[in-house]
Amino acid sequence: MGKIILTGDRPTGRLHIGHYVGSLRRRVELQNSGEFEKIFIMIADAQALTDNADNPEKVRQNILEVALDYLSAGLDPEKSNLFIQSQISELTELDFFYQNLVTVQRLQRNPTVKAEIQMRGFSDSNDGSDNKAGTPVGFFCYPISQAADITAFKATTVPVGEDQEPMIEQTREIVRKFNSTYGEVLVEPEIMLPDNAACLRLPGTDGKAKMSKSLGNCIYLSDSAEEVAAKVKGMYTDPLHLQVSDPGHVEGNTVFTYLDAFCKPEHFEKFRNAFIGKKVSFEFNSLDEVKDQYRAGGLGDMMIKNFLAAVLNDTLEPIRQRRQELEKNIPYVYEVLKKGTEAARAVASQTLADVKRAMKINYFDPGVLEELIKEQSDKYSK
Ligand code: TRP
Repeated sequence: MGKIILTGDRPTGRLHIGHYVGSLRRRVELQNSGEFEKIFIMIADAQALTDNADNPEKVRQNILEVALDYLSAGLDPEKSNLFIQSQISELTELDFFYQNLVTVQRLQRNPTVKAEIQMRGFSDSNDGSDNKAGTPVGFFCYPISQAADITAFKATTVPVGEDQEPMIEQTREIVRKFNSTYGEVLVEPEIMLPDNAACLRLPGTDGKAKMSKSLGNCIYLSDSAEEVAAKVKGMYTDPLHLQVSDPGHVEGNTVFTYLDAFCKPEHFEKFRNAFIGKKVSFEFNSLDEVKDQYRAGGLGDMMIKNFLAAVLNDTLEPIRQRRQELEKNIPYVYEVLKKGTEAARAVASQTLADVKRAMKINYFDPGVLEELIKEQSDKYSK
């Protein structure tokens, strides 16, 4: 059997460079590797609603934003099936059956959901204020719904960020429980994490653990070159590196973390003499050389920030250009989503049929009703 990918994002905002290095860039590589039989990329609007029930408009708006980001980043609808989660009702049916295979106690142990509940102020100690109104049940249970997303497409491979590891683990448990209870129907997926440590969890521009819209520390894929340069200028570096001549720290220095995630060998050639508006040459041949010089002292923060801005804009420019083209053709983007959703639905519907058959809850399938009638009639004629 061929390998199948399923992955996706919640449409709660435009995608940022953390999404890009954490998953999007890899998805495009995987798509173009030809190693996968099918690739499903899902806009998880139903999951987004689990903590945005009062704001469906935000989710609705961001479906298009995420689709534009996907296509601009290089996902190709001829190779990757893009679809909208909420339009596949089969997923909620699978979710409903899987709920019986998971305990409340197990869900409570999911570290990502735990952290998210904390972050959102859904704490159980309800103090009466609006944002401490408790945890929505749908939100608490989203790992089960995510198992439905993954298994509906018989995905073998789920490329996601590190924070999604607990979801994949729960999915695997559900698959094992289902298969041992009802028969081998579902496929146990493997997680695929980013291979570069800096990409596992790209910090925000303020050095905080994660890029997040609410913290205002994101660089978006759709930011202009000027916005990127301004955000990089304001970035957190090494607080002990006060003068250019001071020795600097590279570890925990966000500018270097970003360089680790984005810098490629060709950037040194490309930016050696042409430094954005400055008559300064940048005589380095590798990132290791830059790091050594920074550690030794004599390399200023402005210099490394200018280099980073150049590297980021070099990566983002083709994405921005594709986005501008796509923004002129919105009907095309919705057509991609509609076609992709129809194709995805056909697959999910097949899996749901397999699941119901295994659970023997397919009473009205062709042939099944006749047997059921016979079985029950026999019982009553004894
Ligand atoms: N939870 C993922 C996120 O936060 C989105 C998602 C929903 C997903 N269902 C999925 C990812 C299934 C991978 C597989 O972005």
